[in-house]
Amino acid sequence: MTSEWWRTAAIYQIYPRSFADANGDGMGDLAGITSRLGDLQELGIDAIWLSPFFTSPQRDAGYDVADYCDVDPRFGTLADFDAMLAEAHARGIRVIIDLVPNHSSDRHEWFQAALAAAPGSAERARYLFRDGLGPDGDVPPNNWESVFGGPAWTRVTEADGTPGQWYLHLFDSSQPDFDWTNEEVREEFRRILRFWLDRGVDGFRVDVAHGLVKAEGLPDWTPPADAGSMGGAGGTGASGVTLEPEISDEPGDHAPYWGQDGVHEIYRDWRAVLDEYPGERILAAEAWVDPLPRVAKWVRPDEMHQAFNFAYLETPWDAAALRTVIDASLEAFGDVGAPSTWVLSNHDVVRHATRLSVTEANPQGHGLGPESKGLPSFEAGLRRARAATALMLALPGSAYVYQGEELGLPEVIHLPDDARQDPTWFRTGGERYGRDGCRVPLPWEADAPNYGFGPAGDPWLPQPDEWRELARDRQRGVPGSTLSMYRLALGLRREHALGAGTLEWLPGFDDAVVAFRNGSVVVVANTGASPVELPAGDVLLASGDLEGRTLPTDTTVWLRA
Ligand code: NOJ
Repeated sequence: MTSEWWRTAAIYQIYPRSFADANGDGMGDLAGITSRLGDLQELGIDAIWLSPFFTSPQRDAGYDVADYCDVDPRFGTLADFDAMLAEAHARGIRVIIDLVPNHSSDRHEWFQAALAAAPGSAERARYLFRDGLGPDGDVPPNNWESVFGGPAWTRVTEADGTPGQWYLHLFDSSQPDFDWTNEEVREEFRRILRFWLDRGVDGFRVDVAHGLVKAEGLPDWTPPADAGSMGGAGGTGASGVTLEPEISDEPGDHAPYWGQDGVHEIYRDWRAVLDEYPGERILAAEAWVDPLPRVAKWVRPDEMHQAFNFAYLETPWDAAALRTVIDASLEAFGDVGAPSTWVLSNHDVVRHATRLSVTEANPQGHGLGPESKGLPSFEAGLRRARAATALMLALPGSAYVYQGEELGLPEVIHLPDDARQDPTWFRTGGERYGRDGCRVPLPWEADAPNYGFGPAGDPWLPQPDEWRELARDRQRGVPGSTLSMYRLALGLRREHALGAGTLEWLPGFDDAVVAFRNGSVVVVANTGASPVELPAGDVLLASGDLEGRTLPTDTTVWLRA
């Protein structure tokens, strides 16, 4: 395994609930992951990132952690984790796990102790308890709203039965925020990092890495009127990503709970812990802030290694916008000596086989459902998604692939209301569909029960009938299938060292075309309505059928330069 592997790695996100279910309880598990690692090795990825599998009541699908150093029985045991890790390493696949430091579950023993203890106690000081406002204390301490909708404060009942203090939860009421000014919290997370590093993990994806520190005094904040919710993913509350190079850190320009300067010293401290271990262990930030130079602060040389490029994820399928975000990404991350990352889908956003073609506004976190308008046909959505993926996997840096996108899975629109589990759905009274549509269990074998997701039982979210044709065994080895395209792209990416390459824009193309050279490969993507002539060069990869030497709409090719 080479050094600084993370600069160029293709990292595959596993959402354990929905990947593979070995024990037949309808929910994926660690043994299921172990059994399918061969498929991922064949796909050609360098690392996997696992969303949480820790002890949790699953109010937010495991992002509500009750015990950071154990495996939830639904997912298996620590021994299953060790077996999975060993098998991954034996196959040359590194393993990144999810760390959730902004909040715990309300079932965490610290929070239970805080509830039992008195206001002002050391137990309460690990979280953000405050007295309410007004004569009876029945007004929340400030006006902050939960990312999932509704107020960010919940009032507790004190041990003597009287209405008591309030605690802050930027997400669900079952996810109380830690107080990161408390040294005990800091020490506990160093312990948690070491626990997993000692077990051999290769790194951590850090959940809500922009949220741990809140502005002093917890001042009121009213987001700008045009703000999207950015909700499900732990978003900024800002109006979407802007690409201006200036870093605006004016007080009042940003929510007092996102991207406070104080978070950086925490990551410098963690970096020192990771650097005690051999083998280039990494930290990857989920930091939904903008603009990109601000995100780059998370990956300065003594902080994290990578930050998710949500600006790229949020860019529409538009050549000018793509050129702008690619330039801005390479510049912002390059300025601090970090690789850019690239990502199109994850467990918080509408799958890109649908999202890139939706014609109606769809704020991040709202999701799609039966009432949503402007949805593409399956074929049109997939065609564009494949073109977008082929473009992304040719870019220099590290790329993330979310489970199921290699099968071309679309967002599941028609989930029954009573199957939905995302707290966003409940906290908005069904006004926002939330994120369940991108979390439906994977189809592996077309003719097996649950398409091979598990041996029996109903999957925790129902799989649509149309997924039968998308099952992995229907696509494996089939020329032109989405799975084959991903495998080819990942193989060529490695062969031509595209992750370590340099991007050079190619002039002379129509405005609707994104065209660049990365080392020995020329990439041409047509986002426009009209076909365009291809330049000379052997075709290494095409995301869709070519018409002779013309590149149809929503198609990307790689040519040997
Ligand atoms: C971001 C995670 O990706 C999302 O799934 C989760 O709900 C929030 N953070 C809260 O932990």
